[in-house]
Amino acid sequence: MDKKTVRDVSVCNRRVLVRVDFNVPINEETGEITDDSRIRASLPTIEYLTSNNARVILCSHLGRPKGKRNPKYSLEPVAKRLSQILREEIKFAPDCIGQEVEEMADNLNNSEILLLENLRFYPDEEENNPQFAFQLSQLGDIYVNDAFGTSHRKHASIVGITEYLPSVAGLLLEKEINSLGLVLEKPNRPFGVILGGAKVTDKVKLLENVMDKVNFIIVGGGMAATFLKAQGYEVGKSLIDGSLETARMLIDKVAGNGVKLVLPDDVMVAESISPPAPAQNVAISQIPQDKMIVDIGTLTITKFTGVLEKCRTVFWNGPMGIYEISLYSEGTRTIARVMSNLLATTIVGGGSTAEIMTEMKLAEKMTFVSTGGGASLEFLSGEPLPGVAILMDKEKERETAEYIRD
Ligand code: 3PG
Repeated sequence: MDKKTVRDVSVCNRRVLVRVDFNVPINEETGEITDDSRIRASLPTIEYLTSNNARVILCSHLGRPKGKRNPKYSLEPVAKRLSQILREEIKFAPDCIGQEVEEMADNLNNSEILLLENLRFYPDEEENNPQFAFQLSQLGDIYVNDAFGTSHRKHASIVGITEYLPSVAGLLLEKEINSLGLVLEKPNRPFGVILGGAKVTDKVKLLENVMDKVNFIIVGGGMAATFLKAQGYEVGKSLIDGSLETARMLIDKVAGNGVKLVLPDDVMVAESISPPAPAQNVAISQIPQDKMIVDIGTLTITKFTGVLEKCRTVFWNGPMGIYEISLYSEGTRTIARVMSNLLATTIVGGGSTAEIMTEMKLAEKMTFVSTGGGASLEFLSGEPLPGVAILMDKEKERETAEYIRD
């Protein structure tokens, strides 16, 4: 990565404002954090800073509270979990800007950690409001972006703030960019991408960008219905997200690039998903009009497995079916197990795919599991991430670097 990182600046005695992505899933009924991977993923940066005697101020969003204070989206449970993990006190600020928070940040001792309340309790965060970014900047002497998962957003704590503070990357951000970058630059071949999830539109740019780099494109999940329909199959009540033309265009492009597009031969179909009706395994030419695709079929699992086993690099994003409903989760679960046994570089895009790997305790068997859902898709689509592009370059900014270094 050609950006400066925390290692390139002197942090001792400094108030270091770190943007993390602590947007973790929380069980609505119990209030429990169901997957703390994103908290754990930021530990290298946090521990680097505390062991180098920085005063650490962490800020994040949680969920989408739409610019209003809402206890359901408070980061307080995250402060508690971080404190359990690190076995030390994490101070928690009831707000993310203002005099009280500034005093809390100023009063931190070296190596102490303060977590601020949800940035998105202010609409200004998502609006990238300069005044809000300035207020936030008053809490630190140096800004560190370690929120890879939010770096595709032009928000105040990601982009606006860099106007006011010397800004460098955290160690997680660096690892994400290097790991995902390597996939695109030097993949061991054959290279396959396996994509699922509901919408083709979410993956079009990625498909276009990797088209001349991959050998196989495997498509499952809800988006497979659109590809099947584009090939002339009837897909019953399956959701087609208005991207039939896009799917047709992609099918033509794939053929023109000599890439093999691998689609299901059979699927699981059900009459309704709420309540979940039992699923039936049918060939793609036999999908009943009154049913919808809910998972890939057994023959398809074998077919996809065969292709994956040929690959030396695989990138996976998106479930193979409606995996949240256990009746329809077999395809996704089997592919997760297959991925974990491949003799290949295996990269998992974030979001729900990463959550599945963690829940199945398979994450450690992957070469790399990204913490970013949308961000990893945008990065692999070849889009510059605004939150990364704006950080200080390694070779440039010598004057600022001199200012930061003691
Ligand atoms: C994510 O979960 O993908 C990131 O935390 C970004 O969240 P957002 O999609 O609400 O901006």
